[in-house]
Amino acid sequence: MTIKPRLQLALDHTRLDAALQTVDRLHPYVDIIEAGTILCISAGIQAVSALRERCPQHTLVADLKVADAGATLAEQAFSQGANWMTVICAAPLATMASALEVAERYRGEIQIELFGRWTLEDAKAWRDLGIKQAIYHRGRDAQASGQTWGQQDLDTMKALSDLGVELSVTGGIVPADLPLFKDIAVTAFIAGRALAEAADPVVAARQFHTAIDDIWRS
Ligand code: 5RP
Repeated sequence: MTIKPRLQLALDHTRLDAALQTVDRLHPYVDIIEAGTILCISAGIQAVSALRERCPQHTLVADLKVADAGATLAEQAFSQGANWMTVICAAPLATMASALEVAERYRGEIQIELFGRWTLEDAKAWRDLGIKQAIYHRGRDAQASGQTWGQQDLDTMKALSDLGVELSVTGGIVPADLPLFKDIAVTAFIAGRALAEAADPVVAARQFHTAIDDIWRS
């Protein structure tokens, strides 16, 4: 049976009150909620606890893109109610291992953020450590400089799936992009600006779900 990708709302606001307004409006229309890197840096770890309080039932991601101090930062994220926390792919294995140990104590998961340089050998090492998830990411700045999705991305995603890595996809994603990923096992499409900055965010969320339902019919 085909697993249907979920829709993840990334909150990348620089103000917590604005992020909370967005989540109040959109939480019934999304499956996963993310305290984005920009929000966590701007508002602190209380962004995670505030979202957990607002949305007790949703899977909640702390997108900290941790590079060091894995256990300390994981303790911060998971104790405030996160279910998943991101670690940057450039982090040492020791950081990933210490973050994972804390995550497991809270029955949470670590997601590796795939940016820049990494190899499939790295991905095997993350998997062998016990990390199940990764996020295939086209960065904001890369997108702004003209980087588009291409066959190379799809081939790399397939290679990761073949290793057993569960993949979420993000980076300026809009509903019209989704058919490109039709042959990829996607855990979640992560959308920030396409939802939060839409003229009508609820309509935008519905458009994502319609596209997902059309492409991943079970
Ligand atoms: C930036 C991020 C964003 O949260 C993610 O890429 C989604 O945002 P958008 O859809 O606006 O690109 O992690 O590093």
